[in-house]
Amino acid sequence: MNEVYQKLINCLDCVRKKTDFIPKAAIVLGSGLGDYAESIKIECEVPYGEIEGFPVSTVPGHAGKFIFGYIENVPVVCMKGRVHYYEGYPISDVVLPVRLMHLLGAEILFLTNAAGGVNTSFHAGDLMLIRDHISAFAPNPLIGPNIDELGTRFPDMSAVYDKDLQNVIRKAAKANHIYLQEGVYAQLTGPSYESPADIRMLRVLGCDAVGMSTVVEAIAANHMGMRICGISCISNLAAGMTANPLNHKEVQEAADMAAPNFKKLVTESVRGMF
Ligand code: HPA
Repeated sequence: MNEVYQKLINCLDCVRKKTDFIPKAAIVLGSGLGDYAESIKIECEVPYGEIEGFPVSTVPGHAGKFIFGYIENVPVVCMKGRVHYYEGYPISDVVLPVRLMHLLGAEILFLTNAAGGVNTSFHAGDLMLIRDHISAFAPNPLIGPNIDELGTRFPDMSAVYDKDLQNVIRKAAKANHIYLQEGVYAQLTGPSYESPADIRMLRVLGCDAVGMSTVVEAIAANHMGMRICGISCISNLAAGMTANPLNHKEVQEAADMAAPNFKKLVTESVRGMF
């Protein structure tokens, strides 16, 4: 059996020994949503460290576990803490958690992140519905022998972010008076932030927000036929757009400030999806 698939199945067996919970949706909690667990009626938690072979995040603020439970009566699995490529894991490990959540039952993937605003009309604290992404600056997670059990060799990516789910999120934002930007998210590898010239390049390419996650997860999920949606919390304007240098602590603090609206939008959107 393909090594990557074998590892995935081993992780699945490991989680299934701990819980038989079947989620309908999978939610990846980005920076700022770290304490979203408060909004979940928790049934079971599985720390990543207890799953044999599972990549365990090393970033402060990304302490990792799966949280199984209910949001507004919808059975969900949430990832508190994700794995980033810049931590040094092979890209197949970075997308292992998303693949695992699909094999556990999740048909919908809700991606969240903190991102730098590239669009000049954005402000720190804005929320942005992801309409599409730029994947050209991140490694493709499907490189290597195709895992036929998961999906096809050359998957179409012309509509990664599900149009109906986008509408659910727009509606939830409107109903809760949450201002929602929309745009294209680009994933760069990090861990260094971009240079002002990087940001000007991204803007020319049609990018509205930039970060270090999400796109590879969306590609792996789309390969498996999941319905995908995503929201970025614009924690800062990107490099060169203000006089301030970027630092992780301030990015995290800004994401925390936007957290109440972010959490509300996620909860209300999940409610609208089922
Ligand atoms: N660049 C990349 N990733 C980020 C940023 C940024 O400005 N802000 C939050 N994550």
